[in-house]
Amino acid sequence: MSARLDWASTRAGPIRGELRVPGDKSVSHRAIMLAGLAEGVSEIEGFLEGEDTLATAAAFASMGVHIETPSPGRRRVHGVGLHGLAVPAGPIDCGNAGTGMRLLAGLLAGQAFDTTLIGDASLSARPMGRVIEPLRAMGASIEAQPGGFPPLLVHGGRAMRGLVHAPQVASAQVKSAILLAGLYARGTTEVREAHPTRDYSERMLAAFGWPVEFSPGRVRLEGGHRLDATDVVIPADFSSAAFFIVAASLVPGSDLLLRSVGVNPRRTGLLAALRMMGADITEQNPHEQGGERLADLRIRHAPLHGIDVPQALVADMIDEFPILFVAAAAASGSTRISGASELRVKESDRIASMARGLAALGVEVSEQADGALIRGGTIGSGRIEAAGDHRVAMSFAVAGLVADGEVEVGDCANVATSFPGFFDLANGSGFSIRAV
Ligand code: S3P
Repeated sequence: MSARLDWASTRAGPIRGELRVPGDKSVSHRAIMLAGLAEGVSEIEGFLEGEDTLATAAAFASMGVHIETPSPGRRRVHGVGLHGLAVPAGPIDCGNAGTGMRLLAGLLAGQAFDTTLIGDASLSARPMGRVIEPLRAMGASIEAQPGGFPPLLVHGGRAMRGLVHAPQVASAQVKSAILLAGLYARGTTEVREAHPTRDYSERMLAAFGWPVEFSPGRVRLEGGHRLDATDVVIPADFSSAAFFIVAASLVPGSDLLLRSVGVNPRRTGLLAALRMMGADITEQNPHEQGGERLADLRIRHAPLHGIDVPQALVADMIDEFPILFVAAAAASGSTRISGASELRVKESDRIASMARGLAALGVEVSEQADGALIRGGTIGSGRIEAAGDHRVAMSFAVAGLVADGEVEVGDCANVATSFPGFFDLANGSGFSIRAV
């Protein structure tokens, strides 16, 4: 992780122009993993040059996968085949990335060798029992720290068997860990979800030629096939676009075009929530690329009002709650968030981080176990801590745009995990953020 960094963000704008945010984090992790396990050479375009996905690329390089970087955002991956990974020289460091660690746990459970997965302080406090339990039921041998926390020791050489599993939590990471273990398992692996989650793993497995049946909430595959190299074009990350979507909605006079954003419906719950609040967002130039839906998003300022966020939207906007808290604080009336207790186990406890930060800016927030009630109106000035959480940091940078005075955001270095270049892109489109 980079050195500590603090920001100060002030009222500015309007937010105007055209921009493209970096590549999707979820898709970038999966592209490296499947390309690494495929037979042949895959070209990846639009790869996220963020710390999380660089850690995943480094993990595969440490297991003998040759990965070239012809230019920023491109990778040429020389796949080693499903059984071609080599024993890494030491522990694999997943950094801040829950996706990296949980998906790797599934994939490594089927290898012939042992591996240790480690992470930073935030990742070391995140629950891994949700993947360890189903993977053990498939035959894996994984040791964790008391309470199910990293580091994880994943023993290889196990005979994996298929599993039909209905996870207790709505989690694409859990689903994906099981599917990746299922590639190495005898028989059928099936995941049934009460709330469908992002389906990138299943789509990408199909693109790499693995037979997989899926529909929202259900995915099924069998072990024993092969992955064939294919080229992957990664869409711009909706979760990074979200900060600009809310910024342009909030600042009077804004009119912003975000290019080629991934609008997979399992990711765009925020659009539905913001439209219910009165936002003016149009999708232009809809098209498909590599089986994923993309569109340009045009956002014009519109006054927002509070809503009860429907629980049915929660899984489809799970990463967007920090910025929704800010939209709610700037909106007229109250917004209620519920059914979102998963936010407590993200890169930080995002209910607590956002409630504490907004309260420090004079916003009335009452925190609940599974959400919060936010009384919108005015956002004051003050200092908040991002708690090393990238999305909390960027959300409060947006809050500064509409606050009555300066918002100081402490501990922003982790923005580089998902959105390198946010600072310049934001200031170039009308924000006023400075490093302090
Ligand atoms: C992700 C799934 C989500 C999300 C995370 C990325 C993925 O986590 O919050 O940022 O790439 O599968 P959960 O599966 O824990 O909900």
